[in-house]
Amino acid sequence: MSDIDYFSIVESTHDIQNPSSPAKLREVAEHLEIGAGDQVLDVGSGRGWWAAELAAMGAEVVGLEINDEFVAAARKRADGAGLTDRVRHVAGPALDFEPGTYTVATCLGASFALGGYRAALEWMVATLVERGRIAIGDVHSVDGSSTEDLPSLIELVHIAEEFGVEVTGVVSASVDDWDRYESGHWKNVHSWVKRNPDHPDRHTVLADSRRFRNDYLTRERGSIGWSILVGELK
Ligand SMILES: C[S@@+](CC[C@H](N)C(=O)[O-])C[C@H]1O[C@@H](n2cnc3c(N)ncnc32)[C@H](O)[C@@H]1O
Repeated sequence: MSDIDYFSIVESTHDIQNPSSPAKLREVAEHLEIGAGDQVLDVGSGRGWWAAELAAMGAEVVGLEINDEFVAAARKRADGAGLTDRVRHVAGPALDFEPGTYTVATCLGASFALGGYRAALEWMVATLVERGRIAIGDVHSVDGSSTEDLPSLIELVHIAEEFGVEVTGVVSASVDDWDRYESGHWKNVHSWVKRNPDHPDRHTVLADSRRFRNDYLTRERGSIGWSILVGELK
């Protein structure tokens, strides 16, 4: 099974596909001062909760998403909320998209879609108007240590500064937020396995989910952080 198909199962019911709560994402939107007249590009837009939220605040939003099932869910959400005139979801790899210019660029948990955190910042900054705003969410160490796979939070800030972004806000997930996000994965897999007793990938999906669950509970919980940095071009 491909990663895309695996995540279609694992995140089949998630409105928000990162550890932030709805209230924390609304804080990010407030910090970005989203309003009518904003043109937002959201990279890795998933099932479209964030895009719909920003559109409900008056922005026009373009979401880029590789997973067709997520694109369908996001379009349905925008349609159900009466926001189709302000939300457009583009299916395919983000790097295939000719971006144009935006007042705001966001990427929550999908920097890998643009080649990693540094490459994502460079790409996003290039889409922004003068004084454009940015929100980028990623994982980082909690204890301040830094490796290539898991930088510290201050290192993420310094990299943003290298691309001319003045970081003016941070919204971080708590352990409770992480538990809610991770538990959603386990529950979705459990339900899928019950609904699909004869699926050829049933055992692999369950084994992968249990392995990720156990890694989370033994090594990651409380030591991997998740933060959304918000900033503006200097
Ligand atoms: C962790 S999820 C975050 C989704 C959403 N931003 C949210 O926070 O709810 C990462 C998303 O990036 C999408 N993605 C992965 N690779 C991509 C690519 N090359 N281009 C566009 N989207 C991609 C995944 O399908 C997934 O929906």
